Amino acid sequence: MYAECALKNTVLMVNDKRLTNANLLNETQQMIPQSLIEKLQSTQHLVILTGAGVSAESGIATFRDALTGLWRNYDAQSLASEFGFLADPALVWGWYEWRRIRVLRAQPNPAHHTIAQLEKQVTKLTLITQNVDDLHERAGSCEVLHLHGSLHQPRCLLCEQPYIFPKETLPENDKENRIKPPRCHLCDGPVRPGVVWFGEQLPDHAWQLAQEACRHCDLMLVVGTSGVVWPVAQLPYLTDKKRCSIVQINPLKTSLNAVAAFNLHGKAGEILPQLYAAAFSKD
Ligand code: APR
Repeated sequence: MYAECALKNTVLMVNDKRLTNANLLNETQQMIPQSLIEKLQSTQHLVILTGAGVSAESGIATFRDALTGLWRNYDAQSLASEFGFLADPALVWGWYEWRRIRVLRAQPNPAHHTIAQLEKQVTKLTLITQNVDDLHERAGSCEVLHLHGSLHQPRCLLCEQPYIFPKETLPENDKENRIKPPRCHLCDGPVRPGVVWFGEQLPDHAWQLAQEACRHCDLMLVVGTSGVVWPVAQLPYLTDKKRCSIVQINPLKTSLNAVAAFNLHGKAGEILPQLYAAAFSKD
């Protein structure tokens, strides 16, 4: 199934073993291994793959968090699909608008800032994200491969014409509402979120660049992803085992624990700055 899914380049959830608090490891100060520090200092091509966990400390809920309020009886996977949108456009558009407003109110956290700083320290950095927010860009990262699209770039469901949000002041609160999607000004079709839904293809160019970078990098940081959504979850497995080390940063164990050379268990906003300071701080 993996091969078929990778071939079709279609978003699919697999192997979603629900993780519980039993997997939560201590948030104690991590000891950063010296061999990792040296690897980071000498890397020629660093790949960083981020997931929802990197934005968690900015107050953005991850996907495996249970939905609340208006959406409590749904799971993210059913809302994040064309089927879900067609079944109840106002419910799904309202959910994405609620998330977009939360993102607009949020600020990048130390994990996003550290990743942007790393760009200045290493010879080459490829930043790949599954996140549909713009917190990496707002932290200063220049080039971000958004494999799952963006909350901020909706388009017409029928003719794909991009839709520009009207200039608006942010609502006072992020109340949960059913909201009818706007209509396309060209063809009057319903506007849909600019994200990649389950069952849809990843953006081809970004996906090619991401795979290429993983095949050629010598260090890969995998930050805040459960690794259950394919094909992105296969990226760490494309790296060259002989020369690339994989580093996982996540408070929980994931299936990547078995293959990562370094598993740093804790919050990205704490571990990434520690790792950066250990490798690049002058004192
Ligand atoms: N720092 C690092 N990791 C964290 C933190 C934190 N502060 N908080 C939570 N995490 C970890 C969780 O332990 C979990 O493993 O982040 C991960 C978030 O997992 P998911 O919610 O599954 O997010 P992600 O892997 O990005 O999901 C992939 O699924 O629904 C789709 O398209 C959606 O892009 C999304 C995709």
